[in-house]
Amino acid sequence: MDLQKHLFLIGFMGVGKTSTSRELGRKLDAEEVDTDAMIVEQEQRSIPEIFEQSGEAYFRQMETGTLDKLAGMKPCIVACGGGMAMREENVEKMKQIGTVVFLTATPETIYEHVKDSTNRPLLNGNMNIPYIRKLMEERHPKYKAAADVEITTDGCTPAEVADKIIQAV
Ligand code: S3P
Repeated sequence: MDLQKHLFLIGFMGVGKTSTSRELGRKLDAEEVDTDAMIVEQEQRSIPEIFEQSGEAYFRQMETGTLDKLAGMKPCIVACGGGMAMREENVEKMKQIGTVVFLTATPETIYEHVKDSTNRPLLNGNMNIPYIRKLMEERHPKYKAAADVEITTDGCTPAEVADKIIQAV
């Protein structure tokens, strides 16, 4: 299917943006990209390496840069890094070129998804439900403000989440 504009998936780390994006790509026969993967490919470094060697601010600049690249690309499904909607500039850019879908889950669900990962610098050393809940609450207003559509994912497979999105947009 030819999308009219990009479909951005935003939401907290581990909510399933990448796996849902893959399912959406399959179901809609559309291209899908992942902003974290774009950055890793461009930098030839892992996300923990980028954070450690160049700092979070550098990573955030790269993240904004992915949106500028996407503006010149054919519409596709975009799994965003969990911090993408934190910058107002990014939200404006996403809204100009796409529809923004906010995926939500409880801190308990998120914890189950991320607990064995070491690839998320913001959670290394903070891998517990209270920390996840706190960060999620801090971020929630920004996700909400960015969202055109909000989809709850608890108890759903990525394929089911993809179906909910297709119905909603
Ligand atoms: C981040 C989320 C990560 C990645 C980086 C920072 C965040 O992406 O971009 O570790 O600030 O929420 P995922 O949401 O895909 O884990």
